[in-house]
Amino acid sequence: MDKERTLILCKPDALQRNLLGAVISRFERKGLKLVGIKMVGLSDTELDEHYAHLKDKPFFEGLKKYMKQTPVVAMVLEGEECIDAVRLITGATKGAEADAGTIRGDFAMATPGNIVHASDSVENAKEEIYRFFNDDELYDYAKIDETFLYWKD
Ligand code: TYD
Repeated sequence: MDKERTLILCKPDALQRNLLGAVISRFERKGLKLVGIKMVGLSDTELDEHYAHLKDKPFFEGLKKYMKQTPVVAMVLEGEECIDAVRLITGATKGAEADAGTIRGDFAMATPGNIVHASDSVENAKEEIYRFFNDDELYDYAKIDETFLYWKD
């Protein structure tokens, strides 16, 4: 199993609706390792890059405006094959359609206010982590639960 890292952004509605702790708690209890965390005020340049795949959509400017309302909390999580696992915890893009039990399914009703961003592929995770974090802001350390989390006989 490959060890992967993925980028999470806790969006302005997570901060405004006091859901930051609840969101982080869901990733923690799954067993994901936090290897980087900081607050970031997103610039137009960062948003144009981060959401480049959506630049022709009618909601693009509204999405950028929403993302700039407050700083976001950026995190890098690590775990074996964690990119897809984190997307499952995050849930579908539209809150009202996201499965119950997911972050968006439990905490969101709409877009763009869907609480979190999570990388959706190995390539995008690498690019997004590089966009928001310097190497010296990411940490390698052992965690005492790993033997049980990834138990192999
Ligand atoms: P996208 O990358 O398609 O989804 P995801 O965040 O699940 O990877 O879209 C990025 C963000 O754009 C999404 O989280 C919320 C916003 N968005 C809208 O505001 N309206 C929409 O119709 C869609 C598809 C996305």
